[in-house]
Amino acid sequence: MLQGKKIIIGISGSISAYKSPMLVRELIKSGAEVRVVMTPSASKFISPLVLTNLSKNQVIIEMFDEKVQFGGSWHIHLATWCDAMIIAPASATTLSRLANGNFDTALSVVASALPRSTPLVVAPAMDSDMWQHPAVLRNVIQLERDGVTIVPPAEGELASGLYGVGRLPEMDVLLNSLRFALGAKSPSAGQNGTTDSGGFHSQLQDFQNFSDEYQSLINGTDTQNEKITITESLNHPLISIEDAIEKDTWTVELEFQKLKDSLGHTSKSKLEGKTILITAGPTYEKIDDVRFIGNFSSGKMGFALATEAVKSGANVLLVAGPVSLPTPNGVLRIDVQSASEMYDAVMQHFYKSDVAILAAAVADYSPTKKVSGKMKKKDVGDKLKLELHSTKDILASLGAVKTNHQVLVGFALEATNEIENARKKLTSKNCDLIILNSANKPQSGFGGDDNTITIISAEKEEAFPPMTKNACAAIILEHISLQLHDGE
Ligand code: CTP
Repeated sequence: MLQGKKIIIGISGSISAYKSPMLVRELIKSGAEVRVVMTPSASKFISPLVLTNLSKNQVIIEMFDEKVQFGGSWHIHLATWCDAMIIAPASATTLSRLANGNFDTALSVVASALPRSTPLVVAPAMDSDMWQHPAVLRNVIQLERDGVTIVPPAEGELASGLYGVGRLPEMDVLLNSLRFALGAKSPSAGQNGTTDSGGFHSQLQDFQNFSDEYQSLINGTDTQNEKITITESLNHPLISIEDAIEKDTWTVELEFQKLKDSLGHTSKSKLEGKTILITAGPTYEKIDDVRFIGNFSSGKMGFALATEAVKSGANVLLVAGPVSLPTPNGVLRIDVQSASEMYDAVMQHFYKSDVAILAAAVADYSPTKKVSGKMKKKDVGDKLKLELHSTKDILASLGAVKTNHQVLVGFALEATNEIENARKKLTSKNCDLIILNSANKPQSGFGGDDNTITIISAEKEEAFPPMTKNACAAIILEHISLQLHDGE
């Protein structure tokens, strides 16, 4: 796939720029021709001379450097020369430049000049608090909407000495993302520029290619493909988290349509045709390969919401923690284990959702170090001290990036000052509704088939008597449809 390809590597100012020579080397070993463009701050982290030698081409840093740029159109020549561009690492500032059209560096100006059919792959790398900054997430979501292939950063030790998400992924992940973008048949992956302005015919062609592939998948003719068929999917998890991340809007919409057709769905509701993202169940935070920190959530409330939402004609994407419940008919399910996997899956799919209901009991803390293998008692001794770090608050992260057209619903399990605490969550996490469960009521919360809920909005709170989780779900969905703006 990379043999004979012309690749531009963009490098921006992040400590992980020290890995860039390896990327240049690996690409050249794969038979690609490489040119490097870096930002002035990247040149403080890694020597341009090393990159010039490895790539066998003069590295470009400045917009106006006569040694490397002949005439005023050098960026156009370079952008049209390449088959793909990868920016690794992409700093928060470079993400912002690309997402907001501030093309004021040699690197961003080349990215801006890429023809629409040339894939742009961007691998952000930064400290984990920067990565979680709402402005950075907004920019990443914008770039993804613009058709850029984002390679999410990996979790691990960061240059700051902290532990978290923000590392530049391993070389094989970067190379595979580039291969994927070069070979992508979908309209969103591997295409630079927005998908809804121009390029419509090439989207149709892509869609046609995809439909053929999809048809053979449904007919079971593609024996190489491990993915299960639509009919099987009615009773099984449909997509793994890795698949889900690779799936584009076309794929997901087609699958929803197929599922709805197979159910002969007819109902009319304001939720009909809306995409609803639901989280359910606990998360497991690994201590070692056989032990974890978890909680008693059964996932029943989230699964009841998914079941009832399908009945309203909604497209339901269920991100489920480790639970033993069967997938409700007509639901697309992504299985995750940890809080960080749940975060990634939810962030990936939120931008195309009209409603998000976060019913999962996400672990608030996760072990800082995960031991590989099994810890032995003889090595640990009488006392085991675990250092935990806080996980990312998924609900609050969505609240920070949600648009006025999206309805965001959270749950609150409270034991004291219930209404007051739940109301604080409504405001601090920027939700439209909070569903309060009382930890003090017997028919409430984890495990059982019943629940006792109070629905809290900015204007009012409404308490309901104990009822089945399915009945609670139907009431919650009715309240959500009231929050949807007419005509949306
Ligand atoms: N939640 C989340 N991500 C987390 C923790 C919680 O998305 N890391 C969501 C839950 O799915 C739920 C809501 O936040 O919708 C409230 O969760 P809860 O545990 O009650 O609130 P916390 O903010 O963790 O506060 P506390 O435990 O202090 O009450």
